[in-house]
Amino acid sequence: MTDKELVLEAIEARKMSYSPYSNFMVGAALLTKDGKVYRGCNIENAAYGPTNCAERTAIFKAVSEGERDFEAIAVIGGAKDAKPEEFSTAAPCGVCRQVMAEFCDAKTFRVIIATGEDNFFVKTLEEILPYGFGPADLGVTV
Ligand code: THU
Repeated sequence: MTDKELVLEAIEARKMSYSPYSNFMVGAALLTKDGKVYRGCNIENAAYGPTNCAERTAIFKAVSEGERDFEAIAVIGGAKDAKPEEFSTAAPCGVCRQVMAEFCDAKTFRVIIATGEDNFFVKTLEEILPYGFGPADLGVTV
C-alpha cells in the first residue's frame, strides 16, 4: 500500500468522527506489517477528558484484534465543514505518540501527517518522539 492510499483511508476514517464539541474531525489509518488497515476517528465526550484521538482509536482497534506489528499510520484533520482543500494537519498529540511508542518501533514506524491525498509529510516515530520512554526501558520485550 502506498502512502497516498493510506492517506485516502484516513480521509475515509475522518468521516466517522464524533466531534460535536471541537467540531474538528480527525481520521487515522494504521497499516500493519502484513498489509491490513485499521481506521480510527476521534471520539469526543461531554466530559472532555475521555475524548479519544483518531490515532489511538485505530491503534486500540488493531491491538484488540490481535495486531501488534505496525508499519505506518496516516492522520488528517479538518473542521467539520472543511472542503478537502481545507483539511489541516493533525499531528499526533503527546498521548498518542506515547501509545505508538508502546507498540511501534521508533526507528522504523512511519507517521504520515497529511492535509490531502497529495499533500503529506512523513516522519519516523523517533523524529516526533525523541528520547521516548517505552517497554525496553522497563526491560520488557513486546
Ligand atoms: N485530535 C485527534 O484525534 N488527533 C490528533 O492528532 C490531534 C487532535 C482530536 C482530539 C479532539 O477530538 C479534537 O481533535 C480537537 O483537539
